Amino acid sequence: MSEYVTLQEIERATDFIKQRVSLKPRVGMILGSGLGQMVDAVTDQQAILFKDIPGWPVTTVQGHEGRLVFGKLEDVPVVVMQGRIHFYEGYSLGEVTMPIRVMQLLGIEVLIVTNASGAVNPDYAPGDVMLINDHLSLIAMTGINPLRGPNLDSFGERFPDMSQAYDRELLKLAHSAAKNAGVSVHEGVYICLSGPSFETPADLRFLRMIGADAVGMSTVPEVIVAHHGGVRSLGLSGVSNKANLDGNTVTTHEEVLQAGQVIGPKMIKIIRGVLSTLK
Ligand code: HPA
Repeated sequence: MSEYVTLQEIERATDFIKQRVSLKPRVGMILGSGLGQMVDAVTDQQAILFKDIPGWPVTTVQGHEGRLVFGKLEDVPVVVMQGRIHFYEGYSLGEVTMPIRVMQLLGIEVLIVTNASGAVNPDYAPGDVMLINDHLSLIAMTGINPLRGPNLDSFGERFPDMSQAYDRELLKLAHSAAKNAGVSVHEGVYICLSGPSFETPADLRFLRMIGADAVGMSTVPEVIVAHHGGVRSLGLSGVSNKANLDGNTVTTHEEVLQAGQVIGPKMIKIIRGVLSTLK
């Protein structure tokens, strides 16, 4: 596949899936680092491996299973990416977001994106959940935008508005769902960097200054593409580590995966609450 994914490539992958699964998903979900176990909540599962789908990028990261799982959650038909693709793995953002295009052709109306993040806001602690109300697309500001290249007019316009990339109604539903489930949440701004190296203390001071609450290496490209294609997005970020502002704290992928054990159960309660009100 090339940097710019074509409509033909998207249709080919979609046809492959449709030949194997008859379920028509209303909601797409992406499970971030250490959060793959949330798929266990899905009933009537039918799974396809990423590697079997023509043109679908394959995840290379530990903690990302690489399966596309169809089934029901709170009786809502869903398609779940158990594992995601990241820019730092060497893929273009067109490739990274190709699964979103396929899910759009499969008919999703809502995308629920989860991720693991580092706390930039000093009030956040590992294990916390932040509902994303906006993002800072530092990666796109530097020219790496998933919509770069020929516009796919059948999905959306050349210059899409991003004033409400995160759907306000879904955000409200997520707050109510969290409250009903007794899960306390933050609401804030997520910033996406390319990774794979974690931030230096100076990077983090800069990110705080420009308005970020949590930092990670995903989500933003997927939400830009979802919004371009008219799909409403809800973003949940699980804080796996404190920002290393003093230079004395080491950040590791292992702690990111471990934090997922605490964050996953909280997130699934919120997601269940949102889906049950979507009906
Ligand atoms: N930085 C960037 N990405 C991350 C972090 C972090 O501290 N934690 C989990 N994903």
